[in-house]
Amino acid sequence: MFSTTKYSSLLTKGLIFILFNFPVFQAFSREGMWIPATLKNHAKDMKADGLQIPVDILYNEKGTGLNNAVVLFGRGCTGEVISPLGLILTNHHCGYGSVQGVSTTEKDYFANGFFAKNRAEEIPIAGLTVTFVRRMENVTDKILSGINDTIRGAERDNIIADRITAIAKEFSERTHLDASIKPYFEGNQYWVAITETYRDIRLVGFPPNGIGSFGGDVENWMWPRHTGDFSMFRIYAGANNKPAEYSSGNQPYHADQYFKINTSGYKEGDFTLVYGFPGTTEEYISSYELKEVYSITDPISIAARTRKLDVWSKHMTLSRDNFLKYTSKRAGVANGWKKWQGEVRGLEVNKAIEKKQAFEKSFQKWAGNLKEYPLAGNILAEMRAEAEAADPLITEDQYNKEAALGIELVAQGAAMEKMIGCFRLNLPDSTLRDTLNKVINSMGWFYKNYDHATDKDVFITLMVLYFTKCAAKLPEYYESAYKAHNMDIIAWAEDVYTNSLLVSADRLKKFASTVHTSDSIKLLNDPAWLLYNSINSVRKQRILPALKEYYTKMHYLNRLYMKAQMMKNKSKIFYPDANLTLRVAYGNVKGLDPDGPAKYSFQTTLGEVIALDDSTSDIFKVPKKLKELYYKKDFGRWGKNGVMPVAFTASNHTSGGNSGSPVLNAKGELIGTNFDRAFEGTMSDYLFDPKRCRNISVDIRYTLFIIEKFGGAGWLIDEMKLVK
Ligand code: ARG
Ligand code: GLU
Repeated sequence: MFSTTKYSSLLTKGLIFILFNFPVFQAFSREGMWIPATLKNHAKDMKADGLQIPVDILYNEKGTGLNNAVVLFGRGCTGEVISPLGLILTNHHCGYGSVQGVSTTEKDYFANGFFAKNRAEEIPIAGLTVTFVRRMENVTDKILSGINDTIRGAERDNIIADRITAIAKEFSERTHLDASIKPYFEGNQYWVAITETYRDIRLVGFPPNGIGSFGGDVENWMWPRHTGDFSMFRIYAGANNKPAEYSSGNQPYHADQYFKINTSGYKEGDFTLVYGFPGTTEEYISSYELKEVYSITDPISIAARTRKLDVWSKHMTLSRDNFLKYTSKRAGVANGWKKWQGEVRGLEVNKAIEKKQAFEKSFQKWAGNLKEYPLAGNILAEMRAEAEAADPLITEDQYNKEAALGIELVAQGAAMEKMIGCFRLNLPDSTLRDTLNKVINSMGWFYKNYDHATDKDVFITLMVLYFTKCAAKLPEYYESAYKAHNMDIIAWAEDVYTNSLLVSADRLKKFASTVHTSDSIKLLNDPAWLLYNSINSVRKQRILPALKEYYTKMHYLNRLYMKAQMMKNKSKIFYPDANLTLRVAYGNVKGLDPDGPAKYSFQTTLGEVIALDDSTSDIFKVPKKLKELYYKKDFGRWGKNGVMPVAFTASNHTSGGNSGSPVLNAKGELIGTNFDRAFEGTMSDYLFDPKRCRNISVDIRYTLFIIEKFGGAGWLIDEMKLVK
């Protein structure tokens, strides 16, 4: 177990601490998210942990591996193919934005759910794509040959970018597929992924929020958990089963590889594997950078979002219209907000900074006079100096982003910048009007989901925070506007929201309909634009160039640091930080007992859902039909001894992006869909603690039960392959 643990070379004190808590003979809770093409290196460990199939069933060079049943869903989730007809399963929260696009007050799929009765009823989702990774290859030598470690910055980036373009082109010509090359291990390795992206994706099934987001933000990032967080889509293909734009003539994608579904359940300790696309982790950074997360960016974001979410929630309960406008945005904002709270707590109880510092001490001792890699000795000192110089700027900019630009109207100033640009083109009045109208129409999504009364309240609360925390650094216009309103933020807000054109698409259109080329002054004097522009100028001129320089330096130092860490511990197999490429994590079904004897079982049940039912609550209101099924114990083939499982935890190392990932048993069969992590363990993006880090999945039997018994869509189950 320790061979894959990051802090295997901690000082003795730390090591004893860990040994004391986790006996070494316990063969589970593996840290790591592995590149599928390297699984052979783990075959022995995986077998020891319980895997019963050869690893080349998961991935192989012939192209017949189960990687062909896993997709990058949209831009940041995972999905799995669960039938030969291209049916895919992902999370409810991954399908949420797509469903918002096709949901209206009359056809409110959030309230009522949606289950197609047949293929003709499946709803095309414009813009949604899924991407398969057909094959991967290590191309480090091709990319890095002849480039030494100290070549850095733009010089290095340019050489590498050219090579990436050339080599990716070679691959895609050879394979007739797309090829994308990404850095791993901070740019010490490069891999190509040969991919195929399908563009005709249709909605098939989506439970109502009363199931799919049950427990909402209260249960989000928590265990125990009771959410049926799944949704279903189907991939459609054009001629020869190849990707094509939407067309009514397209046929369901024919899948050679898809997951069999095991319906007999699991017990604590059983092997589990998660196959998917984790987005970002930073397991190997220094204590100086971790401190920036822990004491600067996380706390500031939490403070600003607490205010914003309070206001949004209040307005969302006041009208259904507002609810529909803000529900998707709210979920996004709240998701980070809560995760960071868990992260800060986890880093704190784990003494993560101290652990990093202890590691750095031993690193320094080793690196001090290292002949093999003389660069190593200075890395930490340089990082420290850089970070200390950058911290005030990072603090300031985090307030800029989360407080000032966290006000929707202020951020919307970016759109006005485009309009102002139109005036610079010296167009005749009529062409100018047309051009402006096009720009305004492109803001459709924003105004469809915007309520200026809500935003005005956000303005008031966030400006108070901004003025309190950034008093010494306020952009000039903020000071003068504030004074001009007698330091009365409420009066100021009143003025901005009464007079800004940006408050509604109607106002903008009215302005555009009679505009003359000489009217640009009206935009340049718009109060919301002035707020945006002044902060934007400060950021562009003073803050962003300095931060860019800082991140470029840190990127360089981290590349060296990563290389040195790998040199220091040659017998350890390192895993690369997540970078939204396909990975495999393995572990076992496991309850959660962060601070003592098992507090939470590894599984939740429908009985617990019913016990939480609260008809007065938006998020704990169980749909009537689900209650009826429960009281009749009408669980069909899916319950066991009168119990309907809902969700379970396991010890797989996952991250954001793993939402929707298939969770497999020892035979590679689907037992669940990953959707979250437990609060105490969300710091696994920086530090994996086997005691606290748990991924949370919907039990596949609950998914099937909802599809069949609640959604009445048993026809979908007929196309799946169920095994016991
Ligand atoms: N925390 C999960 C993830 O990071 C689920 C988010 C959706 N649920 C919610 N209540 N916002 O995506
Ligand atoms: N819910 C997350 C997502 O959207 C996955 C949970 C996690 O971050 O572990 O990717």
